[in-house]
Amino acid sequence: MKKFVAILLTFMSSVAFADECAVTIESNDMMQFNMKEITAPAACDTFTVKLKHTGQLDKKFMGHNWVLSTTADAQTIVGAALKAGADNNYLPPGDKTIIAATKIIGGGEQDSVTFDMSKLSSAEDYTFFCSFPGHFAIMKGSFIVKG
Ligand code: CO
Repeated sequence: MKKFVAILLTFMSSVAFADECAVTIESNDMMQFNMKEITAPAACDTFTVKLKHTGQLDKKFMGHNWVLSTTADAQTIVGAALKAGADNNYLPPGDKTIIAATKIIGGGEQDSVTFDMSKLSSAEDYTFFCSFPGHFAIMKGSFIVKG
């Protein structure tokens, strides 16, 4: 019985840990994310962000993606988004300052991205945002690496 409890506890702790290394964030037809802050434990090997669009509008008109960069780089990435265009998910192709990004999705769709946490530092300031033209002013938040 003791052994069974030990195994169960081990299983439960690993499940809890896996939960901490992933988050689901929602976006909608009102040009909003449902979170202003995401905290990722530095102990996670990888972190997964699942983006859902709970609205109904097409991605041509109300597209959203989830992009991660340092706060210092975010404005430059957004500045290049329109030129990059919809075919590139409104992100400059090959831009190394983009740490992670989903594709642009529309109402009813979802996408996810998994990235390596070893690239991130708890000392750095990160911002997540949507790079769809005009959305950055509202659709952004803090990404905190908790060490
Ligand atoms: Co958006």
